[in-house]
Amino acid sequence: MKYTTVKTLIIVSAIAALTACASLTKPAQKDTDITNGKPLTDLEKGMQLCKANCGKCHGVPKPNERNEKGWQVIIPPMQKKAKIDDATAELILKYLVAGAKK
Ligand code: HEC
Repeated sequence: MKYTTVKTLIIVSAIAALTACASLTKPAQKDTDITNGKPLTDLEKGMQLCKANCGKCHGVPKPNERNEKGWQVIIPPMQKKAKIDDATAELILKYLVAGAKK
């Protein structure tokens, strides 16, 4: 490979890396921005909402930490703590239950 080709490659990958980081740090993206125009499923939304709302006071909960019943009893008190609306809590619950311990 010629030197200039290598240089171009380095620049191109640097730009790609930079824009990748930029899109990760941008807040309040539209649902479709990060999925190539495809809408997020409820489970994906639930996962993101869980990461955004449930890791402030303790670690971000993982679905397989509890069984379905366990999630159903913990979400209402945690919803109050996290000060999230019913629709948000519902999506988080749906995500956690989907991967719950059997
Ligand atoms: C404002 C702080 C705060 C937020 C936000 C919060 N929690 Fe909690 N969470 C706590 C505290 C404090 C406890 C300790 C036990 C208690 O108060 O019931 C706890 C306990 C838990 C437990 C029980 C852990 C165990 O081992 O028994 C789970 C599961 C949990 N939270 C999940 C969540 C989920 C899911 C969300 C998001 C909807 C969330 N939490 C948001 C403060 C918070």
